Amino acid sequence: MRIDIISVFPEMVREALAHSIVKRAIDADLITIRVINLRDFAPDRHKTTDDVPYGGGGGMVMKVEPIARAIAHLTGNAETIAATCSSESGGGARDGHAGVEESSHPDESHQARIVLTDPRGERFDQATARKWAQESHLILLCGHYEGVDDRVRQHLITDEVSIGDYVLTGGELPALVIVDAITRLQPGALGDAEAPDKDSFAENLLEYPHYTRPREFSGWTVPDILLCGHHAEINRWRRWHQLQSTHARRPDLFASRELSAEDEKLFRGPEPTVPIDTKTARRNLEQKKNQEDTDGTGI
Ligand code: ADE
Repeated sequence: MRIDIISVFPEMVREALAHSIVKRAIDADLITIRVINLRDFAPDRHKTTDDVPYGGGGGMVMKVEPIARAIAHLTGNAETIAATCSSESGGGARDGHAGVEESSHPDESHQARIVLTDPRGERFDQATARKWAQESHLILLCGHYEGVDDRVRQHLITDEVSIGDYVLTGGELPALVIVDAITRLQPGALGDAEAPDKDSFAENLLEYPHYTRPREFSGWTVPDILLCGHHAEINRWRRWHQLQSTHARRPDLFASRELSAEDEKLFRGPEPTVPIDTKTARRNLEQKKNQEDTDGTGI
């Protein structure tokens, strides 16, 4: 998958991509990310990317032409977009993919999803991340100032997204949030291949609590059940916590899913504990505790 990020602060974006799982995914060629400086596409000598609004009022508005040129460059669609720009006619990209059927780059006859980050956009969520992670080419346009010339929204993008109901100073952080959420879903990006399925939201359920060594810190202990080695019970305990925490913290998510009969019973019942009738579980638990107390390995 390829992601292009169009920004007036390319260094801010590049720096954030140079770490952790995203960097690893880039280095391993699981994803290609390019950061494009919008100023490079400004046609004037001063590399202007914003201007005062028609009709007056404060603030600056991002100009349509540099954005159109940048997108055209990235989709290999320079001639078509140039024609669209000069005729000021429509043919918008909003319904589906923008890009090229007949590309000016022979190897770029693909379609791109072109996303503007804007607080007025649709809310970005895990379902969107999963959908966009399947795309071959995503272009993220970082909005700025008072907004972008509305002709960008009308004619040049396919989607407009917000990462939450608050206003940031620019679209770079939202673009990075989107890149992060999508990159970790690329096959091989995470160490544990199954991890994305266990995530919060994977099934519209939040994650269960995690613990690691030491078993006791400052008198705070790890739940015994996680040390008992009884995996079926541990899974029930985890599921019980997912159900309870989703119900308590995100009633909207909880209401959006139908519980299976098994989940319903688990949810209504008490927190699963170490099965008292399972001698092995008790023995495992004692062994694990002793082992950690003596040699520090108890997981
Ligand atoms: N730009 C400024 N605020 C934003 C937000 N909440 N989401 C996406 N883009 C933005």
